[in-house]
Amino acid sequence: MRKPLIAGNWKLHKTLSEAKELAGSLAANLSDVTEVDVVIAPVFTALTSVAEVIQSSPLKLAAQNCYPVETGAFTGEVSPALLKDAGCEYVIIGHSERRQLLDETDHFINLKLIKALEAGLKPILCIGETLQERETDQMLEVLTTQIKGGLANLSATHMAEVVIAYEPVWAIGTGKTASAEQAQEAHSFIRGLLQGLFTKEVALATRILYGGSVKPNNVDGLMAMDDIDGALVGGASLKADDFIRLVRFEK
Ligand code: PGA
Repeated sequence: MRKPLIAGNWKLHKTLSEAKELAGSLAANLSDVTEVDVVIAPVFTALTSVAEVIQSSPLKLAAQNCYPVETGAFTGEVSPALLKDAGCEYVIIGHSERRQLLDETDHFINLKLIKALEAGLKPILCIGETLQERETDQMLEVLTTQIKGGLANLSATHMAEVVIAYEPVWAIGTGKTASAEQAQEAHSFIRGLLQGLFTKEVALATRILYGGSVKPNNVDGLMAMDDIDGALVGGASLKADDFIRLVRFEK
């Protein structure tokens, strides 16, 4: 019922020519994939070039961030409308690196989400607890705050376009993955929150991705879980072979 989605977050990696090469290799090797939505998120400067490379493939383009204003005196920022214009269909919002390094708040993240939706982009809202929060039993509270804050003022109709990514901060780039059971537990909790905030239908229809050291050797176990609908992948999305294997996960 929920179409799986595998997204590659390239973060601050790849020159223009490297980005085009990786995108070209993915487009050539994943041209037959229709059962899974495949999304790649290069840096801003590579978006339009990568958009051209993947144009006639099933791959979709995402940006890694946006600013919640359409146009104006906002030096250095990029609006959702311009991302759409550059060929993006998705935008990653509220990644833990931005929450931690740039002090992004749930309120700011919520504004971005709303503006992204208004511009016709599909937001991928990232949430997740730190190790300290998990160890001090604050995980459920943190997830609740991030979901309620991030999705404030959204309607059930809006939610049809929203993707959630549960990314425990302690598992990002560390090689430590949450076990499939730990991830399933968090995903099921998040789905319960969505039911409380919206409706059962919304909760059942929303895709919840897992992120944090997803690799070819653990993707199948994660994807076998009932409430895990895909993955947001950092490190392993930078190598064509690894990412192709992730997209071709086995249930
Ligand atoms: P990772 O990154 O796969 O390298 O852990 C995931 C992410 O930050 O989205």
